[in-house]
Amino acid sequence: MAHLFNRNILLGVSGGIAAYKSAELVRQLQELGATVRVIMTRGAQEFITPLTLQALSGHPVHTDLLDAEAEQGMGHIELARWADLLLVAPATADLLARLAAGRADDLLTTVALATRAPKLLAPAMNQQMWRDAATAANVAALTGRGMALVGPASGEQACGDVGPGRLEEPAVIARAAADLFEDGLLQGRRVVITAGPTREALDPVRYISNHSSGKMGYALAQAAVDAGARTTIVSGPVHLTAPDRARVIAVESARQMLEECLQLMPECDIFIACAAVADYRPAAVQEQKIKKGPDEITLQLVRNPDIVATVAAGAQRPFTVGFAAETRDVLTYARDKLQRKALDMIVANDVSDQSIGFNSELNEAVVLWRDGEQALGRTGKSNLARQIIQLIAGRVAAQGN
Ligand code: PMT
Repeated sequence: MAHLFNRNILLGVSGGIAAYKSAELVRQLQELGATVRVIMTRGAQEFITPLTLQALSGHPVHTDLLDAEAEQGMGHIELARWADLLLVAPATADLLARLAAGRADDLLTTVALATRAPKLLAPAMNQQMWRDAATAANVAALTGRGMALVGPASGEQACGDVGPGRLEEPAVIARAAADLFEDGLLQGRRVVITAGPTREALDPVRYISNHSSGKMGYALAQAAVDAGARTTIVSGPVHLTAPDRARVIAVESARQMLEECLQLMPECDIFIACAAVADYRPAAVQEQKIKKGPDEITLQLVRNPDIVATVAAGAQRPFTVGFAAETRDVLTYARDKLQRKALDMIVANDVSDQSIGFNSELNEAVVLWRDGEQALGRTGKSNLARQIIQLIAGRVAAQGN
């Protein structure tokens, strides 16, 4: 069934009696998985209060183009960029006319001009107004510009007339919104990605770590989000901004990373282990800062749990993808890890070349699975991530997962 996971719906409410139904519409959109923000025209506020829609949507309602405070929060251009869909419901005859004329005389019409998002209009008005030639011409102009229409429905109207002009039912409008989106390659899949380094404490101020920046893992997260997946990053310490629609769980050590990953596994379809996890940690963490002493000291290390192998060994394992960071015999070691850790797929990258891999903008890889492989040439990590996600989606589909 079509849904709206990971979709930002900007709901424009204009001033007709059917505006009260926008409350139910917000709920229906959210039930399909959407994040909803609302713009109300001045007329709409005569029929339903912004407070109601704020409480239901969980976000401040936007009402005014010239509101300095609102512009500081999320300005109209940001709103226009944020939206994956501008849905206007109800769309009154006046609103349709102003949209058709390309006016920008309030916040809703301005955002409609400023957004590149698709637009879906749910007209609602008196049946004679709907039948009028002016409205028909406006509707033809708007649909001619690629705007989609849902409704109006026919039936008894608030004014007592009977005919076309009723706002379509909220559930029907929400489904029409969902139907506008093509399913991404991983639509609705739950993806967990480990990213960045781990830090293994020696004492309160020192740790063992590595040069992973998290860029590869975060690029995979962005590609997964773009493919429609519900994406969680379990992230070691990095200096990166996460993709808007990904959830981030911050951890420090390998053991914390394992614990968080295991908690997520019951709700995970695809697990991608991109983090550079420390294989060893200090046997003991000193409570006080280690004081300078003899010329040589010995540090005892113990093995950390292997996160990706633990996930792959789980009873209800997700499709499990590992990385292999190697400095020699890259494919031999990667194949060995694929088998030994019981992975579905492994992404092998040669980290002996300083211009790719750790902390670089670029990477190249060979992706291996049981009966196939694919070389992915040197490119930016975002582009590489998109190709990896495509390969994962293909294998997931091939395995019938
Ligand atoms: O973060 P960037 O700067 O963008 O760099 C990207 C990267 C080079 C870190 C990334 O592309 C990469 O190769 N990540 C894996 C690094 C690594 O630890 O590889 P490995 O060959 O040591 O480990 C094999 C696999 O086991 C990996 O999937 C790793 O996440 C996993 N592992 C390792 C040890 C451990 N205790 N638990 C694990 O889950």
